[in-house]
Amino acid sequence: LPPEHADMMEAHELIAKFYNHLLMNTNEGSIALEYLLNRGFTEESIQKFQIGYSLPSWDFSLKFLEKRGFHTELLEKAGLVAVRDKDNSHFDRFRDRIMFPLLNSQGRIVGFSARSLTKENQPKYLNTPETEIFNKSSLLYNYYNARSKIRKQGYAILFEGFADVISADSAGVHNGVAVMGTSLTEQHIHLLKRLTDSILLCFDSDSAGAEAAYRSGTMLVKKGLTVTVAMLPSKMDPDDYIMKFGAEKFREDVIGNPQTWMAYKLIYFRNGKNLQNEGDKLEYINQAMKEIGELDNPVERDIYLRQLSEEFSLSLTALSEQLQQIRETIPKQKPKEKELVIQPEPSVTKS
Ligand code: CTP
Ligand code: MN
Ligand code: MN
Ligand code: MN
Ligand code: MN
Repeated sequence: LPPEHADMMEAHELIAKFYNHLLMNTNEGSIALEYLLNRGFTEESIQKFQIGYSLPSWDFSLKFLEKRGFHTELLEKAGLVAVRDKDNSHFDRFRDRIMFPLLNSQGRIVGFSARSLTKENQPKYLNTPETEIFNKSSLLYNYYNARSKIRKQGYAILFEGFADVISADSAGVHNGVAVMGTSLTEQHIHLLKRLTDSILLCFDSDSAGAEAAYRSGTMLVKKGLTVTVAMLPSKMDPDDYIMKFGAEKFREDVIGNPQTWMAYKLIYFRNGKNLQNEGDKLEYINQAMKEIGELDNPVERDIYLRQLSEEFSLSLTALSEQLQQIRETIPKQKPKEKELVIQPEPSVTKS
């Protein structure tokens, strides 16, 4: 670890402790604390996730860290302070926000996501920019803390927002992680694969969440992981659900009762379609047939084909014929990513 990077992390860890102190023990932090408690965050989870509060000051963090020997340039490089265009002077990036520390895979704090307390103060979340130590395409929120639970439980839960990870954690679900407002990347998948081959997607139940679940699931399956999808009532996210229905119902009805990837895709294709409408109906049937055609298991193909035939009163013979045609266009024995590993040639012994 380059000494400069260690210093940047140390600066984050020092200020995170102070933000947490401001939130928990001071008058200045009392509105933020009240906000969090009202939302259902517990003191226990605030401490566990080292949540804090930054003052509505232009230079409090800057002065605090400079006084402790950190150079302004280093703080700028770390993304903790920003520079004014007009006179190149420095100011705190995070002001009057709830501070969520972002830990890298080694458990070091490398950035923050900072939530505003009001609708007027935009954006809702302000994140550390890309720095030498923080790369949002390769950081999974809560990865460090969830690692052992993911291994033990045999799967990871991927949430859309880190607030959902925290809520789920206090609801007794400790194997959750989240991307930082980006789409899922190969690097995220690589991190997950170190721990498990099985991912439960638990995204917001709105169109953005449904799209993201479809895209993420498709990527994960391509990389050889097994994907299931938890379903939530429309317009809710996991945090809303836990707040409204409680931890037990979340664990049992949502986390404990996921859809298979195939079943999720069929639900996803129906979104926004009116199946009474001939055009929509045909489009859905074609999408479903294409997915069924890609299933390797003939029994599974049979199950979904029968479902489709019953639901739309279509003859099984016609569907089977179409499926046959679809399958002829699919390259045989599509190798899975996993099996692409090329074994080295056995070394030839020299004589
Ligand atoms: N996000 C972001 N910037 C925003 C909005 C969202 O970076 N202005 C990212 C955050 O990482 C957030 C994720 O996208 O965790 C999901 O967004 P959203 O569902 O809107 O956030 P919630 O987790 O539901 O947050 P809250 O409950 O506090 O509204
Ligand atoms: Mn909550
Ligand atoms: Mn969302
Ligand atoms: Mn959400
Ligand atoms: Mn939410």
